[in-house]
Amino acid sequence: MPKIRVLTVFGTRPEAIKMAPLVKELEKNPDKFESIVCVTAQHRQMLDQVLSLFSVKPDYDLDIMKENQNLWSLTADVLLKMKEVFESANPDIVLVHGDTTTSMAAALSAFYAKIPVGHVEAGLRTFDKYYPFPEEINRVFADAVCTYHFAPTDTSCENLKKSSIPQEHIYKTGNTVIDALLYTVGQAKAPEIDLDENLKTILMTSHRRENFGKPIRNICKAVLELVDRNPDIQVVYPVHLNPNVQKPVYELLGGHERIHLTAPMEYAPFSAMMKKAYIIMTDSGGVQEEAPSLGKPVLVLRTTTERPEAVEYGTVKLVGTDKDKIVTEVEKLLRNSDEYKKMSEAINPYGDGLASKRIADILYENLKK
Ligand code: UD1
Ligand code: UDP
Repeated sequence: MPKIRVLTVFGTRPEAIKMAPLVKELEKNPDKFESIVCVTAQHRQMLDQVLSLFSVKPDYDLDIMKENQNLWSLTADVLLKMKEVFESANPDIVLVHGDTTTSMAAALSAFYAKIPVGHVEAGLRTFDKYYPFPEEINRVFADAVCTYHFAPTDTSCENLKKSSIPQEHIYKTGNTVIDALLYTVGQAKAPEIDLDENLKTILMTSHRRENFGKPIRNICKAVLELVDRNPDIQVVYPVHLNPNVQKPVYELLGGHERIHLTAPMEYAPFSAMMKKAYIIMTDSGGVQEEAPSLGKPVLVLRTTTERPEAVEYGTVKLVGTDKDKIVTEVEKLLRNSDEYKKMSEAINPYGDGLASKRIADILYENLKK
């Protein structure tokens, strides 16, 4: 029986984490699928960390990352280079993930080549085109050109219907991030950092474009105030490699005894670190999905989110980037045990670990030859 040629395209760390389980699922069924992997390498080091963890070997590596790259050149590079990949790989279907520029431009490029596209993690929305920027519109564009919409939750299915996507093209699958987390968590101990076991650990990450400049400086100032006012806490902050993050973070937070700045952690030690943390502060999308299932309170350094489910359950709270507000909300969790307990219920609105299998089954049912 002829196999279905599936070309999976991704380029950044979160896409890789969320697409790797799907690539593994396709590879488990070699009688049904020929799995072809293309990485744009919009991220280089942070992508390679994930490829090695999941032992994914790309068939195409576009190697496009440039120092402090901009959206225009990134979009143009992906759009053009994917054309050549499509001509060489001749896939039956292209899979993209989420809301990055790699996803949007690869989906558009496939559409120009008239190849059907499946969108993994479709339908998330804030309905505000500048938050998150440019991700909200990247996702809308990808949804517009895709044929198969793999939506993680009921809310994302509803959002797709509101965007006039035909019901029969929407599939609720859960989020593959939970497949990845279950595969990884417990595989590795938290990384070797000189942590004081008697202190409460706050784990944080931040990298959003809309937080560059004053907001990220406010976040850092809040961290400084928190460690000064609370001798019983320490902060672990794996710093994103974007120079717009590296510079202010190392400038403001470097050299403090209870603030541990590290390189981006590999996914397995990072998930172990999430498990170990007392509180998580982040503007990351993926971390908002993972931490609630580990029973960790999450304070989100943003004012809106396209992932409202865990906010509704009460384990995730939007606190924005105002310094005083961040300090108040963290101290509330440190000092009020009822508040802490309420936010640390383990809940998981995002998936059951079987999303990749569902997506592979849907692809097979629709595309078998
Ligand atoms: C990108 C995505 C964002 C996603 C984030 C995940 C877009 C527009 N943005 O943002 O949606 O949430 O990834 O982390 O698609 N860099 C390195 N090495 C790396 C990775 C990044 O040096 O492995 C540096 C480079 O200087 C690069 C810069 O970071 O130019 C920015 O990378 P880019 O992918 O453009 O933006 P992110 O902020 O990472
Ligand atoms: N992550 C990681 N190492 C780190 C920080 C984050 O492996 O040092 C993982 C995290 O668990 C999540 C993903 O990276 O799965 C989120 O990526 P990021 O925050 O860069 O992007 P976003 O999800 O906001 O698009």
